[in-house]
Amino acid sequence: MEYKILAEIAVEAKKLAYAPYSKFHVGAALLTADETVYRGANIENASYSLTVCAERTASFTAVLQGETKFKAIAVAGDLDDFITPCGACRQVLIELCGSELDVVLVNSSNEIKVIKLEELLPLSFGGDALREFQNNK
Ligand code: THU
Repeated sequence: MEYKILAEIAVEAKKLAYAPYSKFHVGAALLTADETVYRGANIENASYSLTVCAERTASFTAVLQGETKFKAIAVAGDLDDFITPCGACRQVLIELCGSELDVVLVNSSNEIKVIKLEELLPLSFGGDALREFQNNK
């Protein structure tokens, strides 16, 4: 699938957002290796810290369907500039989708910019470090 189309799905997914507090609607579209797309949107809570970002609702939905291989995630917000995933979502995406994931950033003019997750979260902490720790005990 062309990333432009994936971006359009992310823009459309913004409509699913539950964001009564920030009113900042974010949509995500996660593309698997076999070209299935899982949508996500941010879901807020009156207890603010319980809010879950669009990138995480999309990736959790995909994992719950048994998906393990991913190509790209598109993220759309109502910003003139390109929206970028928060730090927590970068960590979750690297765990579930891998550092090779393409992140397709979408601005409010529906222009896209593609960046590797590895570039957004270099030197990340992951399962390898824990496995090495366990093996050396
Ligand atoms: N948000 C996302 O869903 N994804 C991002 O990449 C940035 C922030 C949400 C969380 C919260 O509901 C709102 O945007 C304002 O932070």
